Amino acid sequence: HRTAAVIPAAGRGVRLGPGAPKALRALGGTPMLVHAVRAMARSRAVSLVVVVAPPEGAAEVRLLLDEHTLPDRTEVLVVPGGETRQESVRAGLDALPADVTSVLVHDAARPLVPVDTVDSVVEALRAGAPAVVPGLPLADTVKEVGPGAPGRPEPVVATPERARLRAVQTPQGFDLPTLLRAHAEIALAGEGATDDAGMVERLGVTVVVVPGHDEAFKVTRPLDLVLAEAVLARRRA
Ligand code: CTP
Ligand code: MG
Repeated sequence: HRTAAVIPAAGRGVRLGPGAPKALRALGGTPMLVHAVRAMARSRAVSLVVVVAPPEGAAEVRLLLDEHTLPDRTEVLVVPGGETRQESVRAGLDALPADVTSVLVHDAARPLVPVDTVDSVVEALRAGAPAVVPGLPLADTVKEVGPGAPGRPEPVVATPERARLRAVQTPQGFDLPTLLRAHAEIALAGEGATDDAGMVERLGVTVVVVPGHDEAFKVTRPLDLVLAEAVLARRRA
C-alpha cells in the first residue's frame, strides 16, 4: 500500500509567453517545479515523486532537482514527457514501481498547493473513493457558447447553474489500477481529456470532490506569476 505523486512538467508554457519551459521558470528565486515537488513531498503519505520533464530536458531537470533540498525520505524519479499532457501523465504512470497502489497527479503549474489540500485528497482515497479531485465554487457565471458567424460575437446557448459547478485543481488522486484502465481505454478510443478525472468519469466510475484551495491556482498567464510571487512573499513574511 504505497502512494506516489506524478508531476507532469513537460509543457512549454505558451500562454505564459516567451522564456524557459514553464516548470523551470523561477518563483521567489526557485523553479516552479521544485516548489511543486516539495508540495507533494511534504505530505507524509507521499514517498515517491515522478517528475515528467520536457522530452529534451530530462537530464537538466535531474540536475536541477539534485541541487535543491527536498524533504527527507522522498525518492524522485525523472522521466521524459510527451506531446500532450495526457501522454506525459501516461509516461509518469509507466515509471511507477509495482508496489504503488494509489497515485496523485499534480500539475507542476500549481506550485503553491498547501499540504492540507494534498492530505484531504489522500484521506478521501483512503476512505475508499477511487478518484478524488480538489474543487472550488466559481466566482464567475459560466456560459456555454455555440458556433457563430465568422467575425461576429459568439451566441450563448446555455448557462449552467453556478452553484452546481466546481473549478477543479490538482493533485487529483486515484486508485492506480482505475487510472491505468482509464488511460488505456481512452487512448484506445483515440480520445482526449483536459484532466485525469474526466477520463475516469468516462469509465462510469464516480469521482468525488473535496475542498480545493485558492493557493492551488494554476500559473497559466503572466498575471498568475504576479499573484504567485505575492503569495510566496506573504508566506515568507
Ligand atoms: N504538461 C505536460 N506535457 C505536455 C503539456 C503539459 O506535462 N505535453 C503539463 C504542464 O507542464 C503543466 C500541466 O501539464 O504542469 C498543465 O498544463 P498547462 O498549464 O496547460 O501547461 P503548458 O501546457 O505548459 O502551458 P500552455 O498550455 O500555455 O502551453
Ligand atoms: Mg497546456
